[in-house]
Amino acid sequence: MLRFLVIFMAMAFTAFAQEAELLKGADAPANGMWVEQLDLSKMSQGYGTSQAARSIVGKPITLKGVVYPHGVGTHADGAMVIDLKGAAERFIAMVGVDDETAGKGSVSFDVWVGDTLAASTGTMHGGDAPKLLSVDLRGAQQVTLETTDAGDGNGFDHADWGGALLLLKPGATAKPESLATAVATDDAPQIAPFADALEPVIHPPRIVGATPGRPFLFLIPATGEAPLTYAADNLPPGLALDTATGIVSGSLLGIGTTQVKLIVRNAKGETSRTLTIVGGERKLALTPPMGWNSWYVWGPMITDAQMRAAADAMVSSGLAAHGYQYVNIDDGWEAGRDAEGNIQTNERFPDMSSLGDYIHARGLKFGIYTSPGPKTCGGYMGSYRHEAQDIRAYAEWGVDFVKHDWCSYGGIAKDKSLEEMIKPYRHLQTALETCSRDMVYSLCQYGMGDVWKWGADVNANLWRTTGDSGDTWGIMSSIGFKQDGLEKFAGPGRWNDPDMIQSGMLGMAAAPRPTHLAPNEQVTQMTLWAIIAAPLLLSCDLTQLGAFDKALLMNDEIIEINQDVLGQQGNRRAIDGRTEVWARPLSDGTLAVGLFNRGVAKKEITARWSDLGIEGKQPVRDIWQHKDLGECADAFKVEVPGHGAVFVKIGIPTISQPS
Ligand code: GLA
Repeated sequence: MLRFLVIFMAMAFTAFAQEAELLKGADAPANGMWVEQLDLSKMSQGYGTSQAARSIVGKPITLKGVVYPHGVGTHADGAMVIDLKGAAERFIAMVGVDDETAGKGSVSFDVWVGDTLAASTGTMHGGDAPKLLSVDLRGAQQVTLETTDAGDGNGFDHADWGGALLLLKPGATAKPESLATAVATDDAPQIAPFADALEPVIHPPRIVGATPGRPFLFLIPATGEAPLTYAADNLPPGLALDTATGIVSGSLLGIGTTQVKLIVRNAKGETSRTLTIVGGERKLALTPPMGWNSWYVWGPMITDAQMRAAADAMVSSGLAAHGYQYVNIDDGWEAGRDAEGNIQTNERFPDMSSLGDYIHARGLKFGIYTSPGPKTCGGYMGSYRHEAQDIRAYAEWGVDFVKHDWCSYGGIAKDKSLEEMIKPYRHLQTALETCSRDMVYSLCQYGMGDVWKWGADVNANLWRTTGDSGDTWGIMSSIGFKQDGLEKFAGPGRWNDPDMIQSGMLGMAAAPRPTHLAPNEQVTQMTLWAIIAAPLLLSCDLTQLGAFDKALLMNDEIIEINQDVLGQQGNRRAIDGRTEVWARPLSDGTLAVGLFNRGVAKKEITARWSDLGIEGKQPVRDIWQHKDLGECADAFKVEVPGHGAVFVKIGIPTISQPS
């Protein structure tokens, strides 16, 4: 027995050594095909463009001092899907984080054969010895080479598939081909087209709050054939409604909760809904903020004219009527300081107060960006040592939302302790408490120091939980699906923020281009963001929304779930290979349930009552399609397209809402 084991181990070792040697070679064996010979433009990656025989930044692929003449250099999160055409017998590669990161970065390399995880390295850090992956492909149709960020953001995740080689069947004539990872073409998502009813309808939020004595502004979100007229019963003292525009403004006189009956009328009829108005110290963002931010479309070259165009389009596209409220400038507006230390705006922002007025005149809210260090991430003037002064300037400009980054504060912090990490956010907290306006407080320090555990202590209303997103499936999906476990830290007024919605025309450049996410991937993002009660901050060119964008972003049942007043963030309830079931308890006693397919091929997914904590016959409604699907006894099964999602509401409402 022992003898056989020794022989077996010796053979395995020899095979390992032979494969490792092959991967370092300049020439492929007779039956070999370098993976780099496939069309790499179909790969997805978290940064840059994947390279043939080079690292992601174009240097020789180098792992622990060994240079691989062949292979694919990529960046997590990303994937390559290969249709094997039945021609392959084995895949081998030597994988690791490229030496060029000098020890930084961490990646997991996963090889999926069909829907089965055939090999995984687990987390590999920069500087780790490379690992050999060797996967049997006999009988396989499809293999996916995936890199993930190993759960800690994708900074420096330069991932090398060193020498990646497909060994083909002797005499194989068919050749493997790469497939697009944005599963764009087949299986268009099943979502209802955008079509507002002619009758008046009032949309979320159902609850808003403000500090008494500070300016209050709220546009009643309502759709229906124009002109609409608005009325409100029981408005709290200090507030007034403009009956032609639906804008409620003024300033609350005292603390306390008021149920206001909103009424909207037009030629087709009349509707009403209760809006709860809460007066209290910084009772802000009682539902996840909805709006727009300039970053992913215009980058740091944002202008006053583009901000005004965004505010106009927010109204003309219908977004404002469906509940989107914030119009936020990101980085790129700042200049230096004057002799008294007052922050100056650059030539692209000649008059911030007038921009604030322009946004407010439409009933919308105005957001701004800054950073606690001397410089922002874009290299502009930061708020270091001028926090209170800057907040006073923002208040004069009419700012309602401030995003506070981290950039360049790393050089100021004395050490890496939690206390030093929290300190800059306390400075801004104090400034916000003492200024004359309410500003929603948004932290952007990428989740460092488990910000979700202390964000609410510095009075933040939302905090980014990860590094920057992007419009690739790899980065967006890895960020989204990583939010599981954070649900206990979110609630009204304090939200986990997995970054902005990656739909529409984007690009951080003068000429925006369409998102790289396929339609199903966008459906996945909106579904997941609704389940996890994430802020819905769009970042595309609002003047160029297409029919699909409108159907995606203004689906009222999705928005109702995102804005549910209970404010309970959902989480993952079941996982099976690359399919996942997530659920969010809603204020009416029902459950919002997302069935997600992270794989490429379509797949039947089952949401089992036992995983959802419910029992007995339950009605199921398709949220995206606005369709009742009938009752199910103990599970709901549905086919879900690759990278797509199906979103249902399960159960009979048992808890009534103020109507
Ligand atoms: C960081 C943030 C982004 C954006 C830029 C601006 O990267 O995470 O959202 O604000 O800074 O420079």
